Amino acid sequence: MQASATTPAKANGESVATLERGLAVVRALAAAPSTRMRRSDLVRSTGLARATVDRVTRTLAHLGYLRIEDQDAVLAPRLSEIGNAYLAADPLTDAVDGPARRLADELDESVSVCVPDGDGARFVIQCPRRRAMAVTFHVGDLLPAERCAPGALFAADWDEDTWRHWRRRVTTGSDADFPALPPGTAPTAPERGEDFPGLVARAARTALAVDDQLVEPGLVAVAVPVAGPGGRVRCAVSVVSHTSRHTADSLTEYALPRLRACAEATAEALAESEPAPEAPSETVPSVHADALRAAKDELGADFLQSLARGLAVLTCLRAPGGRTLSEVAEATGLARATVRRSLLALVQLGYVAQDGRTFTLLPRVLELGHAPLSRLTFERIATPHLADLVRRVHDSASVSVLDGDDIRYVARVATTRIIGVDLGVGTRLPAYPTSMGRVLLAGLPPEDLADRLDRTAPEPLTGHTRTAPGELAAAVAEARGSGYALVDQELEEGLCSIAVPVRDRAGHVAAAVNVAAHAAQRGADSLREEVLPELRAAAGRIEADLAAASERNPGALPS
Ligand code: PHB
Repeated sequence: MQASATTPAKANGESVATLERGLAVVRALAAAPSTRMRRSDLVRSTGLARATVDRVTRTLAHLGYLRIEDQDAVLAPRLSEIGNAYLAADPLTDAVDGPARRLADELDESVSVCVPDGDGARFVIQCPRRRAMAVTFHVGDLLPAERCAPGALFAADWDEDTWRHWRRRVTTGSDADFPALPPGTAPTAPERGEDFPGLVARAARTALAVDDQLVEPGLVAVAVPVAGPGGRVRCAVSVVSHTSRHTADSLTEYALPRLRACAEATAEALAESEPAPEAPSETVPSVHADALRAAKDELGADFLQSLARGLAVLTCLRAPGGRTLSEVAEATGLARATVRRSLLALVQLGYVAQDGRTFTLLPRVLELGHAPLSRLTFERIATPHLADLVRRVHDSASVSVLDGDDIRYVARVATTRIIGVDLGVGTRLPAYPTSMGRVLLAGLPPEDLADRLDRTAPEPLTGHTRTAPGELAAAVAEARGSGYALVDQELEEGLCSIAVPVRDRAGHVAAAVNVAAHAAQRGADSLREEVLPELRAAAGRIEADLAAASERNPGALPS
């Protein structure tokens, strides 16, 4: 950090330092298995003081970006909104998405798109083919330039600083900046480093680069550049295969004509979309100055304002073509001087670019957990919220989806209290006598619901099951009106449950979440009065995480 006698510079130095420490914790967690670490290990891996790690993790937890579970800190799905902001704001993502997906279909091979990032290549699109060979890399992952085909294309544009940084890295053999590299692969050997400038020159001459098992045995790839404004390489499109199907040469011969056509289509789409057409937009930053002030009142010195503001500013830059300082100040409610400090800190740390008055997000923001969080399943998103709910209400909680005429459990946390039914993930139950079933039926379009109701003949599973004609339709209509369904011993004697919907980004019912209790311990009134508010709050938290995690990753949705 620059030492300076003047107050603004000093204040800025402190903001940079606080933000840097906070983001170091995020990066350490992003590189850890399951994005989880003991806080004592975070102290070791970041070199920060224990008190700093505690303040950073408390601040991030307060913002919903991290969970603290006993001694562990775990990244929360909500953090993907930062990477999503970059992907939504960069016109490249939309321009290349269609052409890349079509290319993958035409060739029936995996296609990916990388952008230059420092001395590496960062994935922004992955169109994998489901094959025996596992897909190794995800959107957000960074590969060292000398270990992948896109890297040779990008290095043609490197400045002297980047080459110096790269040379130092390959000489010292440090791969620490590349957590996505397959474990057990050797770091770049200096001799491979010596070959690289020659590969770069050839790639620049031929507008083509080949990866013949540079990053992983068996993996072959061929990449071509897409030119951006000013003739610099804006991104590289790669076709990726396996030596069981192709050699590097046969893949080049097979893929090259269509790969070139894809690059051209992308360049055209990009030329039409750049410079960004309109100014900012509907997007509301997820963290506003008022919320930050309230957090400061609540957490006191434990709340790191510079970190929280920096993250608020990052998510606020989610606008095609970026935003000006005034626009950020207006959208976040933060003072201009505060926004200026945050923006300059983010520029200094390499997450934001400044072009005149405009600030835009850089691909490096994807290193803040985007790749590991993009692998989250719905079960992993929902389970911590169910566990939290169970801790509050002391009864079991579950999430299920509609599967034919049944509901199927996709996540569950049982209380230690024993209740009559044992329902693991994957269990199916008929939809009609269950609270989750009724909530899910209530979320169907009217025609689908009518069909289902027509073919459902409720059976008297207990003395309480509603079986008379029209009763099920009435219960479903009631669930739709009230936003919850309560079932009192209709599935099983002694079992009461209450459910609410979990909605996706579009507002459609994607799943239902319930709490089930022993009727002798908790009756309908207690479920409605004590459990329902907690259940609704839990559903809201699952929805917020799901919205962030599924924006670019349909795999996060329940299925
Ligand atoms: C990939 O998409 O997985 C990929 C692309 C280019 C490479 C290596 C891997 O050189």
